[in-house]
Amino acid sequence: MIREIRKVGDPILKTKAKKVEKIDEKVKELARDMIETMKFCNGVGLAAPQVGESLRIIVVDYEDNPIVLINPEIIEMSGEELDYEGCLSVPGVEVPVKRAERIVFKAQDLDGRTKKYRAKGLLARVVQHEVDHLDGMLILDRAVEEPLKTEEK
Ligand code: NI
Repeated sequence: MIREIRKVGDPILKTKAKKVEKIDEKVKELARDMIETMKFCNGVGLAAPQVGESLRIIVVDYEDNPIVLINPEIIEMSGEELDYEGCLSVPGVEVPVKRAERIVFKAQDLDGRTKKYRAKGLLARVVQHEVDHLDGMLILDRAVEEPLKTEEK
């Protein structure tokens, strides 16, 4: 089911999301809905608070394959890169944000197995952006200069 995207101003986007304690049917359904919603919106990532659930779940699009990451944690960061980012919850702007160029992170999959991942470039940026959502942080909070207005899509 495609879910409604919460927009800037909604308090859930400023709330620290709760750890997932049990991967039950409800969590699996939420993950499926998040993938469907991300694809429908042509997004490259989505965090559960963006669809109104304050839980530590993100989905990212990796080379056209969606990955579900539960309780993701970035454990190493290196390098620095400045680039523009958009966000489905902050429509109409692109914001320059500094991110680590390479990260190591761990997360559980839908079977509850903890896996460790290495990422660089766009994937690393997307994961950092989505983990920010779980901590109540938006790109507007990280902007290093004024946002650029873009056409509403
Ligand atoms: Ni976002």
